[in-house]
Amino acid sequence: MTALAVHIFGSINLDIITSLEHLPRPGETVLATATARLPGGKGANQAVAASRMGAETYMVGAVGEGDAGSWMLSRLKADGIDVGGVAVLPGVDTGTAYIAVDAHGENQIIVVQGANAFLRDSLPVSEGVLLAQLEVPVAALLPIFTKSKAIRILNGAPAVAEGKTLFEYVDLLIVNQHEMAAFLGLDAVQGNDDMAVIAGAARGLLCREGQAAIVTLGAAGALAVWADRHLHVPSLPVIPVDTIGAGDCFCGALAALLDEGRCLEDALPYATAAAALCTLGQGAAPAMPTREAVEDLVGPSSTDRTATEYALPIKKPSAASLS
Ligand code: RIB
Repeated sequence: MTALAVHIFGSINLDIITSLEHLPRPGETVLATATARLPGGKGANQAVAASRMGAETYMVGAVGEGDAGSWMLSRLKADGIDVGGVAVLPGVDTGTAYIAVDAHGENQIIVVQGANAFLRDSLPVSEGVLLAQLEVPVAALLPIFTKSKAIRILNGAPAVAEGKTLFEYVDLLIVNQHEMAAFLGLDAVQGNDDMAVIAGAARGLLCREGQAAIVTLGAAGALAVWADRHLHVPSLPVIPVDTIGAGDCFCGALAALLDEGRCLEDALPYATAAAALCTLGQGAAPAMPTREAVEDLVGPSSTDRTATEYALPIKKPSAASLS
């Protein structure tokens, strides 16, 4: 099966990363041991991950007119990403993320949306994979999700409550455990090391036939959930530099593999390995691994098991099923 393209609708941020011994508690001042300014934003990170996995990748987003915006565009272009769909807006700043990373690689992120808040509706995607996250307005994503004929993937991050209005139009929803609990209105999902329990909770996010959800579990890998079954793929043991962008890496790599026509079962070990590799580099976008690095770890991805030959976990909707 021929790969088509991955179309990413999402945020583009300048990440200001500070390294700390421990993350600050409320009211506490802590001294940073280092600081770095790196490319980021969930949308941009996922685009870089998809492109490095080999997908033809199109980015739709918005940046400000200043230096940060042009720098982000040049970094995306250097990764072979088509940025023709990125608006350069006068009078607003490029999105900025203030990220603190502790000595164990744990992080806290505060995002100032900037230009991302002004992302507007765009043309629907007619084929390939559509991938979006929730750092851009849901109102802009809704018409794209309702009209697109691509495989539609939503990464429910951050867990903006309004994002639930998209769930019906999504073929695959990807969330971490915090986001799943937030969307379900729970403090936390109980029994969070029992895959059957997590799968049972995740089914509460599915709203129609043919949908699947993936719960990313950090060091424990990822859990794919269908209405009638689930599949747990463990992660590879790594000692992380930081975990910034690991979830984005998983989403972008998975989108690239699904775009090639691979089924979810075959794509998952590669996306999970890619996310593990991402934690070995500093920051988000710069740490996305190449396909070669992922295949060195997991072995070459087979070309004979494709979604067309196996029970489809995600069906490409036929033109007739979409208006
Ligand atoms: O998921 C990591 C990303 O979240 C960072 O790159 C930051 O920009 C925020 O969007």
